[in-house]
Amino acid sequence: MDESQIKIDSSLRTVEWKENKVVMIDQTKLPNELTFVEYNDYLQVANAIKTLIVRGAPAIGVSGAFGLALAGLQSTGTTKEELISDLDKAKKILYETRPTAVNLVWGLDKIMKVANAGTSVDQIKESIIFEAKKMADQDIEINKAMGKNGSVLFDNNDTIMTHCNAGGLATVAYGTALGVIRATRESGKNVKVIATETRPIQQGSRLTAFELKHDGFDVSLIPDTAVGYSMANGLVNKVVVGADRIVRTGHVFNKIGTYQVATMAKQHDIPFYVAAPLSTIDMKTNAEDVIIEMRKGSEVTGIGDKKTAPDDIGVINPAFDMTPPELITGIITEKGIARPPYEESIKKLFEAN
Ligand code: MRU
Repeated sequence: MDESQIKIDSSLRTVEWKENKVVMIDQTKLPNELTFVEYNDYLQVANAIKTLIVRGAPAIGVSGAFGLALAGLQSTGTTKEELISDLDKAKKILYETRPTAVNLVWGLDKIMKVANAGTSVDQIKESIIFEAKKMADQDIEINKAMGKNGSVLFDNNDTIMTHCNAGGLATVAYGTALGVIRATRESGKNVKVIATETRPIQQGSRLTAFELKHDGFDVSLIPDTAVGYSMANGLVNKVVVGADRIVRTGHVFNKIGTYQVATMAKQHDIPFYVAAPLSTIDMKTNAEDVIIEMRKGSEVTGIGDKKTAPDDIGVINPAFDMTPPELITGIITEKGIARPPYEESIKKLFEAN
């Protein structure tokens, strides 16, 4: 399919519940094909999360919730206890798919809470579907509120750098970091975007550049290695990225390479913002205990199916890194903007909730 023929309208969702099935865009096929996959088995959803058919913290949170709703439908349990035991088993499998984004466990826990409060098998099955669908709808509302809050930080004619994909494709729709960029444009300001390619699996070139170009943004793609050049040569005014997990001290876990972008931004006095919903903030875990997912070496030794490295080479392939709070100018959420010191400002955002 010619990429220019792919048309996405604003009602399109990355993941949704349709007639007791989970329907997702297969993101591994973008930007060449817009293909949808349909699942009626939670194990298929778990596999889709693991293999990045769906990816991005908020999108996998909702996918996990939909996966549990499917597990409810699949259960043959005749008592509440039997159904809960089937859901617990499915939760464990879904939870183990990806360790870093906290939204996954947040989504699974939310569904289990509703299930545990239920009365009968039928009522639980119905109420967890209802809850998962509500989470999907709320994801869009939250992103729009976050976008509006963040839009005040950006000026007319800014050029904004972003890393990885924190767009509609990383959420149900609209996006977190790209939601802020969208809202800035909706507020009447003209902005340009620089998207990093985001090796090894190129969420920046395959997804962010695709989404923004589709929406008519002036977007330029750079190799990850050109971040320093772009900042040193005045091509960028501000940076906004998403997050997979933020801990209470303001340490941000996001796509590998974010730390480098933030360090360069500090070096060049460029404001570095993070946009994420409160569901991405983990108030319990310490920064040093967050598990960084290590992915397979073939993502680095090749691009797609093409081999770009010698056989049997050792590879280190962390999917995420940690950006310390001193490099972060502000954290944009649906409840407002947290500023340093983050331990206090993040707490206040939750209290306002
Ligand atoms: O491995 P991915 O593609 O799931 O990682 C996603 C990211 O790291 C995004 O940058 C992100 O900001 C989190 S989703 C809004």
